[in-house]
Amino acid sequence: MKVTVVGAGAVGATCADNIARKELCQELVLLDIKEGIAEGKAQDMMQTAALLGFDTRITGSTNDYSKTAGSDVVVITSGLPRKPGMTREELIGVNAGIVRGVTQNILQNSPDAIIIVISNPMDTMTYLALKSTGIAKNRIIGMGGALDSARFKYQLSTHLGCSPADLNATVIGGHGDTTMIPLIRLATWNSAPVTKYLSQNQQDQIVNDTMVGGATLTKLIGTSAWYAPGAAGASLVESIVRDEKKLISCCVALEGEYGQSDICLGVPVIIGKNGWEKIIDFGLNEDEQAKFNKSADAVRNMNDVLKTL
Ligand code: LAC
Repeated sequence: MKVTVVGAGAVGATCADNIARKELCQELVLLDIKEGIAEGKAQDMMQTAALLGFDTRITGSTNDYSKTAGSDVVVITSGLPRKPGMTREELIGVNAGIVRGVTQNILQNSPDAIIIVISNPMDTMTYLALKSTGIAKNRIIGMGGALDSARFKYQLSTHLGCSPADLNATVIGGHGDTTMIPLIRLATWNSAPVTKYLSQNQQDQIVNDTMVGGATLTKLIGTSAWYAPGAAGASLVESIVRDEKKLISCCVALEGEYGQSDICLGVPVIIGKNGWEKIIDFGLNEDEQAKFNKSADAVRNMNDVLKTL
């Protein structure tokens, strides 16, 4: 198994680190456009192998895509991160060009790769990757929902005073501060609905804090977060390379599912060796569906910007 992570910034390097520690592949390539950074971080990580006891071989490459040839899975993290006060959407102009170029280079060297998109604005970058390559829709997966659902579980766990691992909770819709939809009605704490234990105020707070989770961190750190985004990317790689069939919220191409078409948006999907294999219908109520439609409208407006670039 061979995996490539494009972009050796904080998110890409953290994703690679998680992949190596879990030994998800034999060969792991980290690629960046900046001279030396991918080679340096790859060596640094390899020097943890004896300490942590993993056998994945990590190599770095400065923009030489021939080194990525034959990758089974490729994670794209390239592009500018957010600065404090910036929305993910403001990155579209620069990141669209980068993501378009990266996907083309990747597919020239790994024509069968499954592609995971992390670059922002993630929903539009996933749509761009799909439309600009024309590859089968199941092979393009946007990471947003996996991250947002983990953040949702974190927020729930602090209010419930429980382990995040005991929670089942999903965020669907766009990966934007106003477009994501934490499905609190359906969230459970080891099978019991969380709503049973939380006041309406707490529920509203949790939903709100989840939605601005990324922005909150950007303000605190001064740039985009990386630990959870990197780990979320690696969790998708894991479900693919181990064919786990995990049910994870991801940004995928909709063709009528959840009432939307010609758009990539976050919905619960089965992730396995073929990429995203099946969309699961959670049966949204009227309010949730209305929010999902609104989210789709916002993402569609953003996708329309691609035509002007
Ligand atoms: C975040 C970025 C990765 O939400 O979109 O932290």
